[in-house]
Amino acid sequence: MNIKIVKDYAELSNVAGEIITDLLRENPYCNLGLATGGTPLGTYQYLTARFKAGEFSMRDVRTFNLDEYCGLPRCHPESYHSFMYSNLFAHVDIREENMHIPYTEGCDLQEQCERYNALLDSHRIDLQLLGIGSNGHIGFCEPGTPFDRETFVAQLSEETRRDNQRFFNSFEEVPRTAITMGIGNIMQARRVLLIASGEAKAECINQMINGPVTERVPASVLQNHPDATIIIDAAAASRLTGKAAAQLG
Ligand code: GLP
Repeated sequence: MNIKIVKDYAELSNVAGEIITDLLRENPYCNLGLATGGTPLGTYQYLTARFKAGEFSMRDVRTFNLDEYCGLPRCHPESYHSFMYSNLFAHVDIREENMHIPYTEGCDLQEQCERYNALLDSHRIDLQLLGIGSNGHIGFCEPGTPFDRETFVAQLSEETRRDNQRFFNSFEEVPRTAITMGIGNIMQARRVLLIASGEAKAECINQMINGPVTERVPASVLQNHPDATIIIDAAAASRLTGKAAAQLG
């Protein structure tokens, strides 16, 4: 893993945004894996600004999101469809037919998993952006998810639902399930770029980097990925031990 520790959230967003900008400029036909949550917001703002400055086009880019809640209509403000439209898609020139997000509204979820998985099999992702849950989850692959799992309907842990409660009016409103890419799909990406910010992520970041590769910490699988870049701010790096901690200075 290539680990880069930056000062704060603003620098994290710029560095991650710059890596994605470089890819979009080098390969305007790339397949880009996208993430949701609070962490990538600054990265999407950075990309929007660079797009508005005329530095790249997303006309021929295909995007593939990690996951989508079940039980929320697509138009719900907290669906990941809404998130992607508000925070990126509405501001760039990506074409509707090139945006892919698991579909969960009023349909056979198993069939949708199979469809999404077939799509991922036929479009290898050039770069997959990832956040991380405080329990080490990636996408919605919670602790205990087998590393070879492909797209599936995940049960969200209580911890994850509590973490995400801030986006909803109450804990009860937080969905209990979601369709997510599996770890098997994520590991197929040519490159992965994981970003994490803040003290709340410090413990799982240390486990991901220095702990054993174990299904108990899903993100630890990235130790086995041939091209994984991890960008963390000083707060998320604050519990790092071992070699990576030397970067803290
Ligand atoms: C959700 C998403 C993950 C994301 C995680 C952390 O569970 N499914 O993809 O990484 O939240 O989100 P945040 O960046 O808000 O801490």
